[in-house]
Amino acid sequence: MILRETGVDLERLEEIGRRLAQVLRPGDVVLLFGPLGAGKTTLIRVVARALGVTDTVRSPSFTIANIYSGAVTVNHLDLYRLEGIEAEDALALEEYLTADAVVLIEWPEAGRDRLEEPTFEIHLEHESLQTRSVRVEAGSEAGAARWAAADPGEGGL
Ligand SMILES: Nc1ncnc2c1ncn2[C@@H]1O[C@H](COP(=O)(O)OP(=O)(O)O)[C@@H](O)[C@H]1O
Ligand SMILES: [Mg+2]
Repeated sequence: MILRETGVDLERLEEIGRRLAQVLRPGDVVLLFGPLGAGKTTLIRVVARALGVTDTVRSPSFTIANIYSGAVTVNHLDLYRLEGIEAEDALALEEYLTADAVVLIEWPEAGRDRLEEPTFEIHLEHESLQTRSVRVEAGSEAGAARWAAADPGEGGL
């Protein structure tokens, strides 16, 4: 576990997202867990903005992914509508998991057995209308080390 925080308001979520963006590199995969309205899309928007994306960031609705171009390419996936990953979706999924993009995946449950160990996992839970609890975990020692090595910036992150 690299971060566990309660009482996270929007402003704090933005700090966390910007910190995450500093640490991310092409080829990284971030899984975002949490119920509807927990803030998965909101956090991805912050990360994408920090990575130089100026396109509108919203969940893909007719495909499983939106691709944004910024300082790096950002692939935004949402597997909500998938029950499980069938062959066709598996192919699509693999196309988006490329080494030249930062990949952020909402509702990753359906793809769990198709996804390798992610660089980071984010778990968001509702607390109050304006606050969330946030947990960030690294999927590997390398991810944890990268997070730890980044200069502590805003709010001691
Ligand atoms: N502390 C907070 N963190 C994240 N979202 C918040 C927070 N407080 C209020 N919100 C609002 O909750 C909603 C979260 O929606 P969204 O990011 O689409 O969730 P999800 O993608 O998890 O379904 C947004 O309207 C956002 O403005
Ligand atoms: Mg969403």
